[in-house]
Amino acid sequence: MRVLVIGSGAREHALLLGLRKDPEVDFLAVAPGNAGTSAVAEQHDVDVTSAEAVTALARKLAIDLVVIGPEVPLVLGVADAVRAAGIACFGPSKEAARIEGSKAFAKDVMAVADVRTAGSETVDNPGHLDAALDRFGPAAGQPAWVVKDDGLAAGKGVVVTADREVARAHAASLLDSGHPVLLESFLDGPEVSLFCLVDGATVVPLLPAQDFKRVADFDAGPNTGGMGAYSPTPWLPDEVSAAIISGVVEPVAAELVRRGCSFSGLLYAGLAITANGPAVVEFNCRFGDPETQAVLALLESPLGRLLHATATGTLAEFGPLQWQDGFAVTVVVAAENYPGRPRVGDVIIGAEADGVLHAGTTRRDDGAVVSSGGRVLSVVGTGADLVAAREAAYQTLSSIRLPGSHFRTDIGLAAAEGRITLA
Ligand code: GLY
Repeated sequence: MRVLVIGSGAREHALLLGLRKDPEVDFLAVAPGNAGTSAVAEQHDVDVTSAEAVTALARKLAIDLVVIGPEVPLVLGVADAVRAAGIACFGPSKEAARIEGSKAFAKDVMAVADVRTAGSETVDNPGHLDAALDRFGPAAGQPAWVVKDDGLAAGKGVVVTADREVARAHAASLLDSGHPVLLESFLDGPEVSLFCLVDGATVVPLLPAQDFKRVADFDAGPNTGGMGAYSPTPWLPDEVSAAIISGVVEPVAAELVRRGCSFSGLLYAGLAITANGPAVVEFNCRFGDPETQAVLALLESPLGRLLHATATGTLAEFGPLQWQDGFAVTVVVAAENYPGRPRVGDVIIGAEADGVLHAGTTRRDDGAVVSSGGRVLSVVGTGADLVAAREAAYQTLSSIRLPGSHFRTDIGLAAAEGRITLA
């Protein structure tokens, strides 16, 4: 099978390493990729937002399966164009990708599917902002305001704060730049990311993971695209996972089928496990980053065959997934100033060790690997338990040098110490 992966993050690097292990995959290409993916796959330059360019590349390389990593091309309909060219594509249609691309669409699907999620209100008129703020957050007896960009924002459009001025300023700046704002009620409880392969009404869950969205240890600082993750989640009872599949993911998949926009690809359910049970924080239409780096480190089933089955409507026939015992932890190395405008262009030492996945990296003409983005590397460790997996990840990380970089030291720590409990 000849596979083309679209994207340039550590998620795509993890997908490529997983695909390389599948004996049925005999050719791997990536576009545009990064300094790390070039060691795994033939690298091509492409505008990932151009349906024509991606389709032309897949045709030129005689590709059997295109795997689209990031949300932007999916929301723009690149998967539709690839499929229309007669090439199997892992990733939802433009219509189905609205589950991530439009929070208002996702809320409507959840309401009809009877899925619990945070109460919310969309504000698109600055004149209505103050009254809407009064109906949420501490003004309404909740711990904090949750202010989101209604569209795509790479995880950075969300501000959760008990400070009304901070909430107001974020909402006002989104409105100023023409983005509708979603105000949500605060969901209290540990969060889990549950990735499911979805092919119409067929749902196959992967191992649950937990993401660390804030930039600094102990959840301090602003939100990021994700600073680390671990999988699986020992604190999440199997019956709660099963309830999420039957009560959240399957009804949403069925509702998308009913609307004539069946989902095909990876449906990412981000949930808070509240005192009243699981409630959806967000849906995404693609593998999450950095959780994928931890989840795929444990997958033993052949990834190429699995993604191809999902893309071609035969997921129901695939059979149970096989997983390595134990745990995986991934820690993101971020450039100085991330999630603000990152410092780039620094030489990275130690970026080619085993377990180091690349995101914002590029290779200079002299062969040096240099930083080129906010999230630069994602370091993965596995072990029999979370303590061992954390040790493995942080041990590898200790040999990496990138001037000004930062990372969290507490990825998976509370879970490893048994400090995550459900109300
Ligand atoms: N880990 C968050 C995301 O992928 O959106």
